[in-house]
Amino acid sequence: MPGRNHLFVPGPTTVPDSILDAMHVPMEDHRAPDFPNLVKPLLEDLKKIFQTATGQCFIFPATGTAGWEVALANTLSPGDKVLSFRFGHFSHLWIDLARRIGLNVQFEQVPWGEGVPLDRLEALLQADHRHEIKAVLICHNETATGVTSDLAGVRKAIDAAQHPALFFVDGVSSIASIDFRMDAWRVDVALSGSQKGFMLPAGLALLCFSEKALEMRHTARCARCFLDIQDQINANKDGYFPYTPSTPLLHGLRHSLDRLLEEGLDNVFARHYRLAEGVRRAVKAWELKLCARDAKWYSNTVSAIMVPEGFTARDVMHIAYHRYNLSLGAGLSEVAGKLFRIGHLGDLNEISLVSALAGAEMSMRDVGIPVAAGSGVAAACEYWRETAAPVPVR
Ligand SMILES: Cc1ncc(COP(=O)(O)O)c(C=O)c1O
Repeated sequence: MPGRNHLFVPGPTTVPDSILDAMHVPMEDHRAPDFPNLVKPLLEDLKKIFQTATGQCFIFPATGTAGWEVALANTLSPGDKVLSFRFGHFSHLWIDLARRIGLNVQFEQVPWGEGVPLDRLEALLQADHRHEIKAVLICHNETATGVTSDLAGVRKAIDAAQHPALFFVDGVSSIASIDFRMDAWRVDVALSGSQKGFMLPAGLALLCFSEKALEMRHTARCARCFLDIQDQINANKDGYFPYTPSTPLLHGLRHSLDRLLEEGLDNVFARHYRLAEGVRRAVKAWELKLCARDAKWYSNTVSAIMVPEGFTARDVMHIAYHRYNLSLGAGLSEVAGKLFRIGHLGDLNEISLVSALAGAEMSMRDVGIPVAAGSGVAAACEYWRETAAPVPVR
């Protein structure tokens, strides 16, 4: 099919040409004397993205799933109780992983389309008089449903209950796109992956540990080897890794961090909000509903769009892919077939995103969903025109 595939799954996201170029490097000696010149600034600059002065960052040659395990295995012991909320495919998978590595997971079911119920969290922690809950696991942005939870609120609930539990965050589809503050919210371990807001291929699990979480490695008895942060600490202090790193990905990360820091995190967050809001205007104009049940849950990185009764989202995606060369995100597990997702994160602007809206609109009309031709595209474009930054004087 002529033209490039329009990739609008919520990760992997489009890798900008400048990052592709930065990764196009000859292989090099990862034990060379000057290799730390690449590694040490990466570990320092990552802290800026996690918004921490006191945390310690780690780069594992892995994906977000390994990040979940790094967080848990380096801080906890088999049988330790952790508390979590299940409101989508990814929050479910983290719970599943925690169980499979031997933790005692207490989890609450939350309707898909909602996020962390803060009152409930506080009540559960209040009721834990003996402080058996060792950590609270929160999926900041549930990529499967397009729901963002209030992390400042989570911190407040933990404090209000005067509970010493560690606070762990899955920021795979939020960090580097949606405001995330390691220090201000006193998060203990946060993890992300390279293939979303960082605009890189998958292959790096990016983590940050608080000083408190870092100390826990001395008592944590969960089995670990490849994912042991102690080996990273030993090697990272001199600017190396305990095993062979993917050097092209590290060069890509260098460029990704430069781009993010040059744009400025606040501008990155504002851009994601504005692009997401355009998509939400389109969904409203189509007279469709988001999976997110209330504006307070709206995600600025992914919109999960419900198809009306009598239709399946699989047909919309099938036509989008085969007829228009557009990749939309599928509904996963409980919401499979009920929704499709538009990822709007990473290297993106209005005109790129219009292609996803136009393709989704055409595909929905093709399968018979009664959305008015041009309605969503027009609503988004008008919103983006009205909120556009002034152009430089000619
Ligand atoms: C919120 C969230 N957590 C974890 C993961 C798992 O990450 P990975 O596929 O990189 O292992 C994903 C993947 O999409 C995700 O969206």
